[in-house]
Amino acid sequence: MTQSHLMNGDCVEVMKSIPDNSVDCIITDPPYNLGLFMHNRNTNLWKMRDNQFAYAGWDNMEYKVWKSNMNKFFLQCSRVLKDKGTLIVFMAVIKVSDIIELGQKHGFYYKTTGVWHKTNPMPRNMNIHFVNSTECWIYFIYKGTSGTFNNNGKVLHDFLESSVCPASEKKHGKHPTQKPLSILNTLITTLTNVGDVVLDPFMGSGSTCVSAALNNRRYIGIELEQSYYQIAIDRINNLKELIK
Ligand SMILES: C[S@@+](CC[C@H](N)C(=O)[O-])C[C@H]1O[C@@H](n2cnc3c(N)ncnc32)[C@H](O)[C@@H]1O
Repeated sequence: MTQSHLMNGDCVEVMKSIPDNSVDCIITDPPYNLGLFMHNRNTNLWKMRDNQFAYAGWDNMEYKVWKSNMNKFFLQCSRVLKDKGTLIVFMAVIKVSDIIELGQKHGFYYKTTGVWHKTNPMPRNMNIHFVNSTECWIYFIYKGTSGTFNNNGKVLHDFLESSVCPASEKKHGKHPTQKPLSILNTLITTLTNVGDVVLDPFMGSGSTCVSAALNNRRYIGIELEQSYYQIAIDRINNLKELIK
């Protein structure tokens, strides 16, 4: 029986301690590795991005290094996931084809690319271009073509909409790319059952694990940066404040 827990370290190494075929669902939000891409562009947007995404990890890597690391990550995902298990990877739209290619290489069946639309993004440079308000989530099944899908008879669109992460979810510290619980609650309740094991190898402030715990799923979370790992621990230790 897998117990819920959070771990601090490099996910590719830490995942090696998770038994084969033991996870029902992976929902994760890896670094999009847009740091160098932004630096090399002839705009001032990279400065803002530096402020916003000032964390160690995989955001400033050469493309080939990032892809090689993601390849190792997918290998571990294919090992720990049960057959017909679900994998959701959040990603920037310009990297979606890389993620689909890696998923297919490691035995994942590609279902769809969903969109998360943020209703109140920062209106950066609003007078010179379209304000970025979307991120993608790529949906795969491992060794099967369909997995748990609790739609309860409803038509579900691959388009999720919410505000950016509210301040009320950042009481224990700020993470620059924290996902709102409403989006994770939708994914977790649709794609897993009570008691299932949900893994987030790039958990940041722990939003996936908090949502799993609130919805009576087990969770395993991994984070490289000690300060973000601590935020996740504090959020999990204070779940009561989220239960209405
Ligand atoms: C996009 S953020 C995830 C944010 C998360 N969804 C949340 O709601 O807080 C990606 C996280 O992956 C972490 N990270 C980067 N490289 C890692 C690695 N090799 N192993 C584990 N975590 C890593 C970063 O420190 C960052 O916190």
